[in-house]
Amino acid sequence: MTTKVVAITGASSGMGKAAVQLFAQRGWIVYGGARRVEKIPTGANIHPVKLDVTIDESNQNFIHVILTEQHRIDVLINNAGYGEGGPVEDVPISNVRKQFETNFFGAAELTKLVLPTMRQQTSGRIVNISSIGGDLYMPLNAYYHASKGALQQWSDALDIEVQQFGIRSVIVQPGGTQSSWGKITMDNIRKNLKPDSAYLQFATMIGDALDSANGAISATSADLAKVFYAAATDVKPKHRYFHSFSDRLVVRIARAYPRMYRAAFMAILKHQEKKSSR
Ligand SMILES: NC(=O)c1ccc[n+]([C@@H]2O[C@H](COP(=O)([O-])OP(=O)(O)OC[C@H]3O[C@@H](n4cnc5c(N)ncnc54)[C@H](OP(=O)(O)O)[C@@H]3O)[C@@H](O)[C@H]2O)c1
Repeated sequence: MTTKVVAITGASSGMGKAAVQLFAQRGWIVYGGARRVEKIPTGANIHPVKLDVTIDESNQNFIHVILTEQHRIDVLINNAGYGEGGPVEDVPISNVRKQFETNFFGAAELTKLVLPTMRQQTSGRIVNISSIGGDLYMPLNAYYHASKGALQQWSDALDIEVQQFGIRSVIVQPGGTQSSWGKITMDNIRKNLKPDSAYLQFATMIGDALDSANGAISATSADLAKVFYAAATDVKPKHRYFHSFSDRLVVRIARAYPRMYRAAFMAILKHQEKKSSR
């Protein structure tokens, strides 16, 4: 049997890094891409490549290297992503563009680059790493949710287009997971708040809530790497992949009962308001 080839973006940290290690342990040829190429794990079967998914030439180079060296690609994992946190009114539109360039357009460009080869092979899988935040929403993360929501709608439509060629496009929706994501998002909230922002007090309150929520996260990046693996290899892939029952449940509730989700969120916010004013 031919050794399978996987391309993983965002391979220098968190879930992407853990996925590189897991796929390599399981005998795959792994191409990991990230801007901080020196942080991508090394080892037998691992090929680190410098990649910035917001730059077309960088995406083209990533896929060109893989196809030149391996002449095939079985799985693309669109994992690179971050949270451009901050109030809608304050976040500069250039940063909003960067959010979409990273979380959405990068994935779209890479997918377009691998599809011709996957069609020729009559097999392939695109694994898109969204978030439970592709369905849920929280204040100060509006642009992140918008980018993940876009990724999900796009992936679902793509899946129907490419099934006829033996290709599937699937979605993983992690919930809170130990990685650099929380700190980067919190730093962006602080960075994007204007000095005279009308949202300073609100942001402090939400920031406190997020800080305590981040401290309670138990899922590890290695846990999520196993979910990526299932999404990449299940013979009959699922529509959505979750790590935990609670992640799946909260997404179900938000989709089926949007008013209930909003009411629960507003109740939590009220509680937090009381806590902050003590
Ligand atoms: N952790 C969570 O709680 C959580 C929950 C739901 C969904 N997610 C999603 O899961 C995915 C993985 O995040 P994580 O938690 O593992 O976060 P992380 O530890 O911050 O890792 C993010 C990865 O994305 C890469 N990246 C960011 N911008 C990039 C760019 N322009 N080009 C190439 N690579 C880029 C980073 O590498 P460089 O900086 O070296 O380029 C890094 O390897 C993301 O899509 C995130 O939105 C995370």
